[in-house]
Formats: sequence, structure tokens, C-alpha cells
Amino acid sequence: MNPLPYAHLGRTADNELLLDGVPLSRVAEDFGTPTYVYARNAIESAYRALSNAFGDRSHQICYAVKANSNQAILALLARLGAGFDIVSGGELARVLAAGGAPHKIVFSGVGKRRDEIEAALAAGIGCLNVESAAELARISGIAHAMGRIAPISLRVNPDVDAKTHPYISTGLKDNKFGIPIEHAPALYRQAARDPHLDVVGIDCHIGSQLTDVTPFSDAAQRVLALLDQLVLEGIELKHLDLGGGLGIRYTDETPPTATDWVHAVVNIVDAHPIARHLPIYLEPGRFLVGPAGVLLTRVEYLKPHPTDGKSFAIVDAAMNDLMRPALYSSVMAIEPVTPHPNGPTATWEIVGPVCETGDFLGHARNLALQQDDLLAILGAGAYGFSMASNYNTRGRPAEVLIDNGQCHVVRPREPAESLWANEIIPAHLL
Ligand code: LLP
Repeated sequence: MNPLPYAHLGRTADNELLLDGVPLSRVAEDFGTPTYVYARNAIESAYRALSNAFGDRSHQICYAVKANSNQAILALLARLGAGFDIVSGGELARVLAAGGAPHKIVFSGVGKRRDEIEAALAAGIGCLNVESAAELARISGIAHAMGRIAPISLRVNPDVDAKTHPYISTGLKDNKFGIPIEHAPALYRQAARDPHLDVVGIDCHIGSQLTDVTPFSDAAQRVLALLDQLVLEGIELKHLDLGGGLGIRYTDETPPTATDWVHAVVNIVDAHPIARHLPIYLEPGRFLVGPAGVLLTRVEYLKPHPTDGKSFAIVDAAMNDLMRPALYSSVMAIEPVTPHPNGPTATWEIVGPVCETGDFLGHARNLALQQDDLLAILGAGAYGFSMASNYNTRGRPAEVLIDNGQCHVVRPREPAESLWANEIIPAHLL
């Protein structure tokens, strides 16, 4: 098996790491570190793999913006025909700014504010995925006041175990997400009678980084059982939204392919006499952008332990740039950009400069390292930059998109002064 987990990564004859044919050492030289680097090709091929897996079957891919919301990435997905799954007014504005089509936007999230609902209705978005009875009432009231009819789905919680990290599991009855599936028929009945609401679909999302298709099929089955109840009540739907969550390979996972995922849900949905006529919406985030990105970082110092303790490689990226290892104990592959094939290998803790013991990017990695070496953290295209913070007054990394052999800066590194530019010292303190 290719020791590099993704097809768009490669090495030159002298072992230099390439992303879509571009040497990452050149990217570091031109743009500095830490830098997120994304391959347009990889995003497009993931999108096409998913879309093509549907064949002629009607569907809509709504990219989960939270995974990576850079304007360039939203724009390139919009050009491919993607819709968008958003969770805030901020994401709505971002998608519209990048040229996303409002009618292909679905709005998820348990805590939509009034102003966010107003903005969504004013923009003419495709669907609000409603997560509680209280939210349904609020949306109805706002639609009434605005003289609009709000398109809604109920996001149901099917109580399916996604068998993923507890922080990113969302479809269990103890999670805050969605409406318990057994409460949904009564709420659908209420919504169908409401002149300010247009019931357009059913929605569910059970979790993220799923490495098995069974929970997806189980959730689809439960959604169809609910559909049967709605049909009996004369409630007609226009789409079925089965959420996102397809996992990727970070190290040795063997996630389903795009085809496995699509076939697993289509086989179930198309066996249903009514559901087979409805478009299927999916809300993938990680699958589309995760493998496409690396976080490029440089070793600042090596701190080998003189006896038998831990040895630390201190790099210039930190938990504020890439939170996944610190937050979820995620294990992400770390590859040397310019390896030393004959160098002595040691076991390193790969850590950042932030003043927290939790600031690590990788534990116990066997690498032949030297000071100033470049490392690439793989699978960093999703939930990398989008979760970055300015903790320790660290400007967030630059973002670079590789497109057809050319590097485009799609967000420059944040200069330190920009981090306090909006802060105000009251006059009496000056
Ligand atoms: N739809 C909804 C309603 C969601 O809540 C999510 C993710 C998605 C779609 C997209 O899921 P995906 O296809 O990317 O798995 N920060 C975590 C992941 C959080 C996912 C939250 N919801 C991580 O870094 O692993």
C-alpha cells in the first residue's frame, strides 16, 4: 500500500514530498510556515467521486461549510454545483459572498438566532433544518412577520450509534441534536397546518468521521419509517437529507469509499416506493476537503531527552493552528518533507510553542529529524484552519491553494497587529 494515504501526495526521486506535483519545500520557501496548503484537484476529485456515485439518481451535495470555509474553496465547490450546509449567519454570509446559490443552502444547528433566521429567509435559502419545537415556533413567527413562507425540514435524531469519537457523535438520544424521532410526527403535523411554513423535507446527521456504512443505513431505515407515517397523514416531502459524516483515512483507518456510502443509502431509499422519487441530499464536509490539505510546519528546536524521558520536537505550528490532536486526541499522519534517509531515527513528541501541556500535534513519532526540517501534517484540509484561534496572540497560518501547478495565496498569514486592531483602550486609560 502507498505509505502516503492520498493519491495527490507523492515524492520526487530524491524523496521530496509533493502535493499535487508541487514540492512542499518550495511552498514553505515562498510563503513561510506554518501554512495550510490545499490541492484544488483533490477537492474536485472527491466531489466528483461522490456525485458520480449517484449516476442519474437525483441528488444534491451540500458541502458542510464548517469543515473549511475559505472563500476560494467555497467558490470552487459552488462552480462544481455544490450546495452548502451552514450553521450560522456568518457561514450564510460567507457562502453568498463566494457566489453560492441561496436555494441550494440548508441551514442546520440547534441554536439559530432571530437575526440569523431573518437573514436566511431574506436570502431565500432552500431549507431550514429545524432542531426543536421552540425553533419551529420561532421560525413560523419570523416568517409571518416578514410575509414569507419558510421552507423547513425537521432534523430528527434517529438514536443510532455512529461509533465515532463521543464529541463528534450527534445521532444518539442523549446528544443535544435533532428532534427525537418519535416526537417528529406530531411536530410535522403542526408544521403542515402552519400557513407560514412549507414542509419540504426530513433531515438527519448522526456524526462525523464514520468508518463504517452500517450506521448510515440504519439511520436511513429509521428516516423512511418516519416517512411512512407522514405519508399516511398526507404530508408530502420534496427531499431527504441524510447528513454528512463520511470518514477519511488519517493513519490506518479503512473508511468506506464515496461509492460505498452513496450505494448504502441509495439501496435503502430506492427500495421505498415514495422515497425513490425524492432527491437525496448529503452534507459532507471532511470527505471533500480533509485529504486535500496539509499543514506545513518547521522544526524550531529539538530537545532530545538525555536519558530515558520524552524527546520533544518543537515546531512552529501549535494547538491554536490545528486543534484536532489536542481536542479529540486525533492521530494525524506527520510526514517529513525532505527526509534524511540515513539519519538516526528517534521517537519524538511533536509539540508547538503554546504554553499548555495539551499543545501537541503528534505523540511518539519515529522520525529522523534535524532542526529546521519541514513537516507536513496530513489530512488537515478539514477542521484545521476553520477551528484555528489566536490563542497566545498567534496570527493564524497562511492558506495556499495549489491549482494546476500554481500556488495561490487564498489567505495571507495574519499579521500580529491585526489581532488587536479592533480592540479599544477607553480614553481614561490612555
Ligand atoms: N452536517 C451537520 C449537521 C454537521 O453537524 C456536520 C458536522 C456535517 C454535516 C459534516 O460532517 P462531516 O462530513 O465533515 O463529517 N471538528 C470535528 C468534526 C465536527 C463535525 C461537526 N458536524 C473534527 O475535527 O473531527
